[in-house]
Amino acid sequence: MSAVSVTGAGMTTGEAPFVEDAREAGRLYIYQPYELYSEDNHRAWRTLYARLLPLWRRYANDHFLGGVESLCLDPERIPRLEDVNRFLSPLTGFRAKAVSGYIPAFQFFDCLRRREFPTTITIRRADHLDYLPEPDIFHDIAGHVPMHTDAAFAETLVRFGECAHTAAEIAAGIPDLETRTRRLTSIVRAMARFFWFTVEFGLMCSPAGLKAYGSGLLSSFGELRHSLESPEVQRYPIQLEWAVNQTFEIDHYQPLLFIVDSFDHLFGLVGRLEEWMREGKLNNVAPGEPAVNPGDLASFLR
Ligand SMILES: [Fe+2]
Repeated sequence: MSAVSVTGAGMTTGEAPFVEDAREAGRLYIYQPYELYSEDNHRAWRTLYARLLPLWRRYANDHFLGGVESLCLDPERIPRLEDVNRFLSPLTGFRAKAVSGYIPAFQFFDCLRRREFPTTITIRRADHLDYLPEPDIFHDIAGHVPMHTDAAFAETLVRFGECAHTAAEIAAGIPDLETRTRRLTSIVRAMARFFWFTVEFGLMCSPAGLKAYGSGLLSSFGELRHSLESPEVQRYPIQLEWAVNQTFEIDHYQPLLFIVDSFDHLFGLVGRLEEWMREGKLNNVAPGEPAVNPGDLASFLR
């Protein structure tokens, strides 16, 4: 263990033996071995936090800013999840839960239903701060978790988690394997698109103008400003029928963003998503990204 800390490999994304060993052994839920973080890892956190803070004040919605304050995040050091949870849990019942990497879709949504947020514990390289090959602890804790301090937003996530159970129930009622696979693929794709265009990249109206509430935006110092300032970005009031049929790519700044009026509005949309699921309206959404892999499908059928 100490050898890892001394060499500085620490808990860097893609270079963290602790996490890779857990993944190889099939352990999804892990703990945060705090002593393994290197000084480089803390430097990455500190630099990102210092860059984002002034942008958050300008571009983030008020619920997020309030959340950053209530969580008492340390600008200097990577937070301990137990400290984050000590502030978070009394507010909405949510908890950050350490994971070793990708969680199959159903399990991810089901965690939300139980007010657990699967949280990556590695951090991007300090010398590649704007390159994010996969979520890291800065994205998850500084981008997502402040939103989980807001009651209306937290209820929306729980409601979204419940939709995963509805999808599983619908799939279980389809006897023919081919039909079941096709419909479930479409439903999961629709859910993933909805999540992407809201929780990850959503914009919200406010008296002070448009603000970001999507965590993909709030954890990216390049894209946050771009999302609200660039004339090239299309920003439209959200339409559910559009969002569930809209493909997206993850490897560049988003050219299309959707706006909600409030978190009550968002909560209502999740309810409509579930109705559409039950009515069969999500059985044939437009093909394209994101891909739904066999592991994700299987997670709904277990
Ligand atoms: Fe995310």
